[in-house]
Amino acid sequence: MTAPTARQAAARRSGADTARQILVETARQAASLVDASLGGTAQLDPVLGDGAIVGIGVDAVDVVRFREILARRPGFAARFFTDTEQADAGRTPDPVESLAARFAAKEAVMKALGTGLGGFALTEVEVRRGTGPGATAGAPSLVLHGAAAALAARCQAGRFHLSLTHTTELAVAFVVAERSVPCSLS
Ligand SMILES: CC(C)(COP(=O)(O)OP(=O)(O)OC[C@H]1O[C@@H](n2cnc3c(N)ncnc32)[C@H](O)[C@@H]1OP(=O)(O)O)[C@@H](O)C(=O)NCCC(=O)NCCS
Repeated sequence: MTAPTARQAAARRSGADTARQILVETARQAASLVDASLGGTAQLDPVLGDGAIVGIGVDAVDVVRFREILARRPGFAARFFTDTEQADAGRTPDPVESLAARFAAKEAVMKALGTGLGGFALTEVEVRRGTGPGATAGAPSLVLHGAAAALAARCQAGRFHLSLTHTTELAVAFVVAERSVPCSLS
């Protein structure tokens, strides 16, 4: 194959830039749709991910032990969960299972960002419950604040995907961190 001329190469670069701009605009629109479905309260970054995975994390919490800890330490929930998380969990059939899954989510984010306990306060990773209609009703998402958000930015993690599951015995969270779209394109 012959090498492209300078003009062909420039045309290709311009095509790639246009494709990226479309991706950024689509991400912005998706962010505002998600934000609207969450009641307009999420502080979502308007520029999200570009599809490349920069981290994954999984964690499991023993629900029986977690239930005992919550009963033994009344301040535990307020220390590690935001008001929104506590209110969301309070509306589920078993709030303890839901809180255990959210605790697992916070630890899964630590793994996805390559940090351990102490990297950020657990309340700086917040699980939000989708209120939108249809198949995404109740679907969880993540909002990062403070040191957790700063760490995510350093890791170039622009978007997080979260899945939760829980039973009376075990709560599991799985997190995927997607690379941010480069700022220069925003
Ligand atoms: C999603 C669903 C199938 C999970 O049910 P389940 O097996 O009983 O429960 P699991 O323990 O595996 O998962 C519960 C978690 O799933 C998450 N979840 C709830 N709705 C969800 C959805 N629409 N999409 C993704 N995750 C969802 C929540 O985080 C929930 O935990 P929480 O209540 O503590 O926030 C069930 O909630 C459902 O049928 N929801 C109705 C909406 C629907 O039909 N969704 C289809 C998705 S393809």
